[in-house]
Amino acid sequence: MDKSWIDYAEKFTSDESDVLKELREHCYRNYEDKAMLAGFVQGRILSMFSKMIRPKVVLEIGTYLGYSALCFAEGLADGGKVITLDIQEGTNKVARSFVERSNYVKQIEFHLGFAADIIPTLNETFDLVFIDADKPNYSNYYDLVFDKVRPGGFIIADNVLWSGMVLDPGDDENAQALAEFNKIVLADERVENVLLPVRDGLMVIRKN
Ligand SMILES: C[S@@+](CC[C@H](N)C(=O)[O-])C[C@H]1O[C@@H](n2cnc3c(N)ncnc32)[C@H](O)[C@@H]1O
Repeated sequence: MDKSWIDYAEKFTSDESDVLKELREHCYRNYEDKAMLAGFVQGRILSMFSKMIRPKVVLEIGTYLGYSALCFAEGLADGGKVITLDIQEGTNKVARSFVERSNYVKQIEFHLGFAADIIPTLNETFDLVFIDADKPNYSNYYDLVFDKVRPGGFIIADNVLWSGMVLDPGDDENAQALAEFNKIVLADERVENVLLPVRDGLMVIRKN
């Protein structure tokens, strides 16, 4: 998309909280892999989805610095929580420090370890799942969470366009996995889905 269109979209989007703004700026200043963070407009979209769904339980696979977890927390139903999973201790510490400064410290539950090991140990029913970790495992995560999502609940997967490489994945392992994931979702009669060409592609899936 033309950069001036993106600037315009940012200008005509409601502000994020001060903590989210600081977190984003901290990430852009200090992290080489800063593209992993959801970003301003996408963050507002995730927050808006959460406010539309009013989830009691959100599962996030891939915490990074906690930006998207904080966005989802904004829409939680009373007494709701975000359970967020990651394997990286360093970024997790930073995520916890920003969450501690937010209004959502009691609503965000951190788990450190391999997502595929942790998910089977969670006994909650999810209203919303956000898949945003290692790409080769997307289909595996989809299978692991599916029965734990309530009927009418949602699964959202990030980066499903992989900079357009899903059209012709070649030897790229991530692009191959994401192209396969997109095919699996489209063919799954238990769901309806829409692939939003927002940023790097958001697959929004509703379980029937
Ligand atoms: C794209 S970042 C998440 C960004 C975050 N959701 C946001 O938008 O602010 C992906 C994260 O997944 C984590 N990750 C990668 N493989 C994982 C695994 N097997 N289990 C749990 N987390 C994993 C990485 O450590 C990284 O922090």
